[in-house]
Amino acid sequence: MDYKYVKDCWYVAGLSHEFKPSVLTKHAIAEQSLVIWRTAEGNVVAFDNRCCHKRFPISEGRFLDNGLLECAYHGLCYDATGTCVKIPAHPDGKIAPNARLQPYPVVEQDGLVWVWSGNPERASLFKPPRTPEIADSKWEAIDSGPMQIPANYLLLIENLLDITHFYPLHDGNIGDYANSEIPIELEEGETDGYRFVRTRRRTANYTQPPYFVDWFHYETVDRDHTHCMVSPGLTRVELRVAPPGELGTDKEHGYTLFHTHTPIDDRSHVWRWIVSCRANHMSKGDPSKSTAKRIAEMFPEVVDQDRWALEKQQHMMEFPDNGYSELFLRSDKALRRARQILAQMQHEESKVASVRRLNPVSTRAPEVAAE
Ligand code: FES
Ligand SMILES: [Fe+2]
Repeated sequence: MDYKYVKDCWYVAGLSHEFKPSVLTKHAIAEQSLVIWRTAEGNVVAFDNRCCHKRFPISEGRFLDNGLLECAYHGLCYDATGTCVKIPAHPDGKIAPNARLQPYPVVEQDGLVWVWSGNPERASLFKPPRTPEIADSKWEAIDSGPMQIPANYLLLIENLLDITHFYPLHDGNIGDYANSEIPIELEEGETDGYRFVRTRRRTANYTQPPYFVDWFHYETVDRDHTHCMVSPGLTRVELRVAPPGELGTDKEHGYTLFHTHTPIDDRSHVWRWIVSCRANHMSKGDPSKSTAKRIAEMFPEVVDQDRWALEKQQHMMEFPDNGYSELFLRSDKALRRARQILAQMQHEESKVASVRRLNPVSTRAPEVAAE
């Protein structure tokens, strides 16, 4: 199977707090190098990281006292719209109209910064998914920071949609054999232009694995667990547990866990997780720590197990199929739908791209030599 990625999509470039005014940050998204910063006015802007003069990375530049961004090579200066407004080698002030950085659509929302990595004409067909818990003070949200994973991002999406891997991969921390036997309900729909697929696992009188007891107190619970591929860039996980018969009451504990998956290329992606718990919930394992903080310090062990699996899987993808084909289990039905949704999105974007190739519409001004 050929694992690619969707290009016409909103992907997370980072959390809002990571973008400080006039500080340049460099990002690799969908085989493109981007420079992103927050302007003095407070807006986050993103551009192709290549200086329009000789491709020098603009992220190596600096902001001058007058607020202009100066390329570190020959000193072309850009304003916050990416327009070149000064060229030291042109003391007469002559600047060609195509002297500008190529912009990328950006949306900052709910504590996240999203960048549209594909055809800008299709950006308005989709909206970045909402993540209200991240910016809501009733919730405590803690993020992992970016983790570069040497595997196609679809492997992570599939990992998140099929948690029968909790046994044996996470056996003894968040997993056990009984988890694999919980029936799976599949839910599908469309939000903000994206087709989503969600698994739901409901179980009663479940004996929680040790980490969940540490975080959520109870040995035996009724549990409602969902994993939703909201878009190719975001998976939302919700876990609700309570003593038997008490789901929906104030005894309920749990989390909303966001996983962002931003492709770097066919073989690597940036994974972040952001755990959100009710701000007043304390853990059992260390009653001096909130549940969110306790999860944040213990969850990396679980994530390392997933990383290990994803890297090994990607390595095996390098071998030619030679008659090999994957076996699909009942528990793979969400994963199969996710593959179909991503394949359909890639098909739609390539259809538009080929029409564009036949009828090119230039988004840049024509090349004009700056004498
Ligand atoms: S490459 Fe940027 S000024 Fe020449
Ligand atoms: Fe996992």
